[in-house]
Amino acid sequence: MPTLSSMATPEQGPVPFVDTLLAGTNLVPSPRQQREEEHADLVATLPSALEANGLKKLCLYQGFWIRDIHVPAAIALQRRFEPRPDDVIVASFPKSGTTWLNALTFATMARRAYPPAGADHPLRRLNPHQCLPFLEGLFQGGREAELEALPSPRLMNTHMPLPIMVPSAVPGCRVVYVCRDPKDMAVSAWHFLRRLRPDLDFAVVFESVCDGTMAFGPVWDHVLGYWRASMAMPDKVLFLRYEELLRDPAEKVRKLARFLGTPFSAAEDEAGTVDDIVQLCSFEHLKGLEANKTGCLDPLLPVPRDALFRNGASGDWVNHMTPEMASRLDKIVADKMRGTGITFQ
Ligand code: A3P
Repeated sequence: MPTLSSMATPEQGPVPFVDTLLAGTNLVPSPRQQREEEHADLVATLPSALEANGLKKLCLYQGFWIRDIHVPAAIALQRRFEPRPDDVIVASFPKSGTTWLNALTFATMARRAYPPAGADHPLRRLNPHQCLPFLEGLFQGGREAELEALPSPRLMNTHMPLPIMVPSAVPGCRVVYVCRDPKDMAVSAWHFLRRLRPDLDFAVVFESVCDGTMAFGPVWDHVLGYWRASMAMPDKVLFLRYEELLRDPAEKVRKLARFLGTPFSAAEDEAGTVDDIVQLCSFEHLKGLEANKTGCLDPLLPVPRDALFRNGASGDWVNHMTPEMASRLDKIVADKMRGTGITFQ
């Protein structure tokens, strides 16, 4: 196992986060208990609801429904996250293509240290989520020092809405955001949540999307926050859509590399690097890897990793929604997005 200092230089890109933990160089004691107690009074005063699968409590914090355990994380993030100019954050609403974008961004940023066709590429032995620290997870656990210890450039992941990240993240660093048709997101969320509660009714998840109470929702406000920031600061926030990634992943990987300030060189074009990244991160390839077929996402989230790789397509909502349900959700979203310049139709 390499040491942290030998793992990366800025030219080489980010190191797989889990490797830094295994190297043991940035483990710090966790004051998590204390953090949760510190904000227990505030959490108790917030409006609350149960997540669609009935297992987790959500609180309405600054206009968004986030898990009660993430409220202290949100406060810590707002107060203490110190972005570095070369930081990159992959942001998304859950079930919108996070895993894919994590993999694509890691592979693109780290391509000099880890050529994407290489047999020893980290994404061939690790789940994409193991390559990036999950911001709210670290801040929830009082593990911010692990972020501090990471060499630059850091690549991180979050589901937090932008208003909760601001002013710390934007324009302090770069953010890459992916959104997805809320109808497909709802279907994907149902399948995912069912892994913890098999009898969960799709209608329950659908209602939580429609009334905005899905975790990190309302989805329209989540999307709009990042959309507006991408319009105002296109050099700081790259706004991508899952459906466009599916249509032309190579073109989007080129766009991503340009946004990150590391466009593909003529030599890389010649060598087929973009196609290698697309292939490495493709649904079929990732789904078949041992690292993605076995194990759980997190000790706190005992969902098997294979739940992240279900169908990998767009339009599956037709198999789960009546036309009335689809047009109801479309209308809610269209009303919320009216006049903003973004649509999902
Ligand atoms: P489905 O459930 O519709 O199949 P997230 O990563 O935000 O949790 O999103 C999960 C969704 O992204 C799932 O959608 C999953 O199948 C899909 N997905 C995961 N990896 C993918 C990849 N490499 N290419 C395309 N889609 C992918």
